[in-house]
Amino acid sequence: MPFEIISALAEAYVDKFTSEEDELLQKINKKTVKSHPRAHMLSGHVQGKLLTFFSKILLPKYILDIGTFTGYSALCMLKGIAENGELHTIEIRQEDADTALENFKLAENNNLITLHVGNAKNIIPTLSREWDLVFIDADKVSYIEYYELVLPHLSKRGIIIADNVLFHGQVLDPPVKGKNALAIDAFNKHVYSDSRVEQVMLSVRDGLLLIKKI
Ligand SMILES: C[S@@+](CC[C@H](N)C(=O)[O-])C[C@H]1O[C@@H](n2cnc3c(N)ncnc32)[C@H](O)[C@@H]1O
Repeated sequence: MPFEIISALAEAYVDKFTSEEDELLQKINKKTVKSHPRAHMLSGHVQGKLLTFFSKILLPKYILDIGTFTGYSALCMLKGIAENGELHTIEIRQEDADTALENFKLAENNNLITLHVGNAKNIIPTLSREWDLVFIDADKVSYIEYYELVLPHLSKRGIIIADNVLFHGQVLDPPVKGKNALAIDAFNKHVYSDSRVEQVMLSVRDGLLLIKKI
């Protein structure tokens, strides 16, 4: 990590003036930080609240969460789901999927969640839904593939949100080095040159790219 993108002071201020996490999200956040060696992967308070905001505005019928981890982003997006909607979340690591499942058991509307365990590349093509909200947050080298799998099935009003598009600042300072930073840089360029979509990049946390069809 060459440098932090947002100053710690600004992060603390942003955190302070963002509505608090509910009890369950707070519990999952704390438990993940305490017990998971890769806890930094969790979306966290502010980004989670942003996911909830988008979901509450869109009232999505079909939500796709690529990279479940301990279930935090899924539960943030679940908060805006339409009545009888479906949230599909995909996790490749059995251990993380097990933790997510335990966390989902404590959530309201958890009957709307389907947790798929396996490689998202194989699972996404089996889900024939018209997605209203998609969060791409799994292995960085596969972002272009996830995007191409999902875009034809994105609803007219739907949005894709891709996480870590600033990749700890490693894409800001050419020449870009490292497999993941190169993959993210390639993804950002791929979307930018795609005439099917319009997009906006936000410097929230590690960078979010919001994408919709034109
Ligand atoms: C950054 S974490 C996701 C964090 C989560 N979205 C959140 O906000 O709390 C990425 C997750 O994607 C999973 N993952 C990596 N490659 C995957 C793949 N090919 N298919 C499904 N999940 C994958 C990892 O095991 C990890 O749990």
